[in-house]
Amino acid sequence: MIKNILRPSYTITLLILVVAACVDHNLSSSFIVECDNGTAVSYSNVVAPIIQSKCVICHNSSSGLPDWSVLNNLQEHGAEIQRRITLPLTDPDKMPRSGSITQEEREAIYCWIQQGALNN
Ligand code: HEC
Repeated sequence: MIKNILRPSYTITLLILVVAACVDHNLSSSFIVECDNGTAVSYSNVVAPIIQSKCVICHNSSSGLPDWSVLNNLQEHGAEIQRRITLPLTDPDKMPRSGSITQEEREAIYCWIQQGALNN
């Protein structure tokens, strides 16, 4: 039995299976966001409309959740917002909780926060 397992053809098959198992995990990996900080992301033109259409349905003044239509709240929770919007879709903490954002929208929110969450 041991001799069989150590035969080259078995060893190679096993190696391929192990590598395949390690590679095929895209669904559970975090989203990577790269910011070009030479280009400022505008809060009023870009970020606020995305937040309005994708987050404020739940995060508003009457839900008891932090109200993301208030700039100051976004500024105070910046790091947690960056964390939640880059979580794997399979993570129960990911935001938006239901619905989805595109990678472009994710980048806009994430990079605007990275640039200091300015009122720009
Ligand atoms: C379908 C409803 C829903 C939508 C849409 C939604 N959220 Fe949430 N969010 C929740 C709920 C419920 C909680 C509280 C439970 C929790 O912390 O996971 C929460 C919590 C959060 C928190 C943690 C707040 C804290 O007090 O630390 C952040 C950050 C967050 N959401 C960001 C966002 C962002 C950014 C969007 C839009 C891209 C968004 N959410 C869209 C339902 C939603």
